[in-house]
Amino acid sequence: MKKVAIGCDHGGFVLKERVVSTLKRLGAEVVDLGCYDQNSVDYPEYGKKVAVEVASGRCDLGVVMCGTGIGISIAANKVRGIRAAVVTNTYMAKLTKNHNNANIIALGGRVITPDEAEAIVEAWYTAEYEGGRHQRRLDMITAIEEENR
Ligand code: RB5
Repeated sequence: MKKVAIGCDHGGFVLKERVVSTLKRLGAEVVDLGCYDQNSVDYPEYGKKVAVEVASGRCDLGVVMCGTGIGISIAANKVRGIRAAVVTNTYMAKLTKNHNNANIIALGGRVITPDEAEAIVEAWYTAEYEGGRHQRRLDMITAIEEENR
């Protein structure tokens, strides 16, 4: 069973319940790191919380949500080992696992609907990393991290 960390700010909160129920339906264990209501909070805090759980290996994957998905993805990507991808459709969701092995996806509560979020999470969660030529490129990304510690 995969363990998936979840985090959002107030702008992403509208998607959280559906993302959690989708992941549970798919058989994942969900670790909900907040926020827990629509009061205004700062997305870097929640992007970091999820990213640290994934980078440490305590969780296998993560889903982060803010208004656009952008700010919280930028925050998550500051943690070494994280490949967080903003995703707005199922094609991007599948391809970012197939090619980028994205260990976090970022969704925008002001960009997509809960129905779209459900389809996106399922497409990403059930897709497989293809390895092969893509691994060389991921190794290049890791090298950028190492060169800029
Ligand atoms: C918060 O209003 C908003 O800036 C945030 O949710 C997100 O969209 C940032 O990228």
